[in-house]
Amino acid sequence: MPLLTSFVTHFSREDLIFIGCAVIAIGIVLWVLRYASLSVSRLAEKKQDDSKAVQRLHNFLDELGQTRSVVFYCSLIFLSLYTVYAFVKGTSYESHAVEWMNLLIRWAHVVFGIAWIGASFYFNFLENSLNRTTGLKEGIAGNLWAIHGGGFYYLEKYKNAPPVIPKHLHWFKYEAYFTWLSGFTLLIIVYYLDAKTYLIDPNVMALTPMQARAIGIGMLGIGWLFYDLLCKSSLSKRTILFPLILFLFITATAWFFAHVFSSRAAYIHVGALIGTLMVGNVFRVIIPSQKAMVQAARDGQEPDPKLGKNALLRSRHNNYFTLPVIFIMISNHFPSTYGGLLNWAILIGLSLASVLVKHYLNLMERGEKAVWILPVAVTGMIALALATAPHTKEICKDNSSPSFTEVNAVITKRCVQCHSSHPTDDILKVAPNGIMFDDPKNIIKYSDRIINRAVLTKTMPQNNKTGITQEERDLIQCWGEHGMKQ
Ligand code: HEC
Repeated sequence: MPLLTSFVTHFSREDLIFIGCAVIAIGIVLWVLRYASLSVSRLAEKKQDDSKAVQRLHNFLDELGQTRSVVFYCSLIFLSLYTVYAFVKGTSYESHAVEWMNLLIRWAHVVFGIAWIGASFYFNFLENSLNRTTGLKEGIAGNLWAIHGGGFYYLEKYKNAPPVIPKHLHWFKYEAYFTWLSGFTLLIIVYYLDAKTYLIDPNVMALTPMQARAIGIGMLGIGWLFYDLLCKSSLSKRTILFPLILFLFITATAWFFAHVFSSRAAYIHVGALIGTLMVGNVFRVIIPSQKAMVQAARDGQEPDPKLGKNALLRSRHNNYFTLPVIFIMISNHFPSTYGGLLNWAILIGLSLASVLVKHYLNLMERGEKAVWILPVAVTGMIALALATAPHTKEICKDNSSPSFTEVNAVITKRCVQCHSSHPTDDILKVAPNGIMFDDPKNIIKYSDRIINRAVLTKTMPQNNKTGITQEERDLIQCWGEHGMKQ
């Protein structure tokens, strides 16, 4: 009992109320879903004579079951993380705990992501490279011989469903679901728990943490609904108009995020949105279509061709979405892309170039060639590299160099609040990326990066929280132009 009391007293009153309310709310949602499942299965029992209606009810039951698992696991992850966070909040363990949550979830996210994208690239390659002409057996659409890992493999694709659906049919879906779940958790850990550090930039828009979180999560939902409607509308049959609308939609969201969030958060949110569309495609369209196809085959019926077509359309989209999303996942390392004024346009430019590269690869796998694609993509990339090049002119080659003492003074005034062994910043309690400028030797050691972040891309101080002036940036630049001497 004393152990429990001391455990509970670690939490603030607000956190205890929040956790309590969250547990009750989640409990109610799970109970409602369970009740709905029971009612539906009772209905299915009653309607035994009408097999179609029973089937529909069973499909609905499946969906309810899946939703319940998603709600359960998401809530469990969210509650555990929040409880740990609330437990250590305000203590010296806070940033350590957040760092470890970040590490474990990021690791999982990358591993699931590789599994998902790996499988999807593989099947896409398979589809593109099948031999569809010579020596095909009855009912087979194509085959492929391959050698890998010291073994020979022979694969066949059926034109329709096989005569008997095998008992062990492997489904590729959990890679996608877990990639999204881990990605969303990462979004919470890095951007939402502590929204003031990375999510909000008061120079872009002075949001409260709650507003910023609501915009972030809300946009993921709205984005999916809009995209899904678009795909279901007759527009999806238009080969030029539809991709154009999709492109404008992604551009509009990139512009929007860049005008409400900090630049890094804006990039990640575009990635999170595209990732949500991708997993939504798997969860809401591809897997349900495949389930219906399997069911039709079991009932000895021809599956509705629309099912396969819908699944294929969404799978195509996912294929082209992959490269932009992977760039966004690593974009935080590249301040020249997210740091500029038109950062949203740079993101869209890079995405377009990568979509072209993907298109080229797809054509190549099919044995077709379009020689213009790759040069256009490469020219686009070079144009982007030039567009993001620093525009800073040399400003003081003729004057004498500022002394190291002056530079040190600026950095002490504007940077060591965060970059120190004992940061005084109200939020960051550990030196970001382990970089500390309270030892002047490090200013020399990291001089290139200091110039890059504080002068060229102006991405430091973060959100200019410490109010560095242009004169101070110029001073660091002059020191740079004179060879960064100590
Ligand atoms: C409010 C806190 C804060 C202040 C003040 C601040 N930084 Fe940073 N800095 C960060 C954070 C957070 C990161 C890690 C995220 C990133 O790279 O954007 C970072 C990263 C960096 C990096 C990149 C390190 C790497 O691994 O490449 C450099 C260089 C840097 N800061 C320089 C500076 C300089 C120079 C100043 C002062 C002009 C400064 N920072 C002021 C928070 C701050």
